Amino acid sequence: MIAKAKHLLDSCLESGGHIVVLTGAGISAESGVPTFRGEQGLWRNYRPEELATPQAFFRDPKTVWEWYNWRRSLIAECVPNAAHHALVALEKRAAKFTLLTQNVDGLHALAGSQNVYEVHGSIWKVRCTNCGSEVVDRAQPHSTVCAGCGGLTRPGVVWFGEALDEAVLGAAFEALSSCDLMLVIGTSALVQPSASFADIALARGASVININLEENPLVRPGILSLLGKAGELLPRLLG
Ligand code: OAD
Repeated sequence: MIAKAKHLLDSCLESGGHIVVLTGAGISAESGVPTFRGEQGLWRNYRPEELATPQAFFRDPKTVWEWYNWRRSLIAECVPNAAHHALVALEKRAAKFTLLTQNVDGLHALAGSQNVYEVHGSIWKVRCTNCGSEVVDRAQPHSTVCAGCGGLTRPGVVWFGEALDEAVLGAAFEALSSCDLMLVIGTSALVQPSASFADIALARGASVININLEENPLVRPGILSLLGKAGELLPRLLG
């Protein structure tokens, strides 16, 4: 399987094709960032509707901020792993490369990836719910008050029930519309719209390689699935 995936990747690199990568929490698991689902997943111990919805936030901003401050302090201690670094190397070799990530941890940029779209926002961004200003602010624990207008600030992430940033979503669809090879790495492929990205790439005629520790809904005919750790498989795939 890995030989076949390697062949697909090498052919795409040689022909100057567009490589689109979609990552999920699994790619950061080996860096120590908790995933959402599965045995050790965050959603085992916390209820998304109490922490990751606009309703939860406006009901109890203090509790939601406490949870995000806890995650921010945890992620601040994490560094990119071999899988993040492999994608940096891949971007340098590819004629055209787009990285779409559902992760809010910022580890792709920290590793050195350039053309990255954070479809669920960034845990390091803070947005004012009053004046709308958004800044990167790593202060910890973060205050809930906007420095500009004194309004209530919120984490710059996308919560359940919220729309994705239009520009980011537009860039994602544009990338998929010219994709020749797609790598889907470390996602349960359950949350829309990212869960449909592989189908969009397939419909346009791209090859899709799915890398995951366990079976996910993308383990099906027409998609080449490699089961194992991203931090081990990706460096092997890239030789
Ligand atoms: P999930 O936690 O749903 O899934 C993580 C996936 O990574 C699972 O399929 C694991 O099998 C896999 N995995 C774990 N460790 C791995 C490793 N070392 N190598 C390869 N794969 C590994 O995370 P996402 O799919 O990213 O959204 O979740 C999608 C969205 O749901 C998140 O962005 C978040 C969450 O609720 C919001 O908060 C809006």
